[in-house]
Amino acid sequence: MADLPRYCVWGVHHNMEIFASDADVFRPERWFEAQGEQLQKMDNNMKLIFGYGRFECLGKNVAFMELNKVFVEVCQSFLRSRLLGKQGNTTGTGVETEGCSQ
Ligand code: HEM
Repeated sequence: MADLPRYCVWGVHHNMEIFASDADVFRPERWFEAQGEQLQKMDNNMKLIFGYGRFECLGKNVAFMELNKVFVEVCQSFLRSRLLGKQGNTTGTGVETEGCSQ
C-alpha cells in the first residue's frame, strides 16, 4: 500500500493553473466560458474525483448518468411546482405546492 501513488483531491480541484486564479471561488460559469484545450484540461482534472487507472471507481458511468438525471429532475420539479402552485394546484405527484407559489 505504501508504494501506491496518492494525490490531494482538494488540491487537484483547486489548481489555479487549470481553473484560473479564482479556483477557490464557486463559479460554475467557468465551465461555460472555457473552450478547447482549457476545457479539456478542466474536464480531465474533474474526472480524477473518481480515481484513476486500475483503482478507478467502477460506478463512474452510473454516477454520471445519475448526476445528469438529478439536475433535470430537480429543475423540472421546481418549475412544475412554481407553475402549478400559481394555479393553486398540486404537482400531480401528490406533493402539495402551496407555499411554493411565491
Ligand atoms: C459522484 C459519485 C461517485 C464518486 C465521486 C466516486 C468515487 C470513487 C472513488 C474515489 C473510488 C476509489 C478509487 C481508488 O481507490 O483510488 C471509488 C471506488 C469505487 N466506486 Fe465509486 N464513486 C461514485 C459513485 C459510485 C457509484 C454510483 C458506484 C456503483 C454503482 C460506485 C462504485 C464503486 C466501486 C465498486 C469502487 C471500487 C472499485 C475498486 O476498488 O476496484 N461508485 N469511487
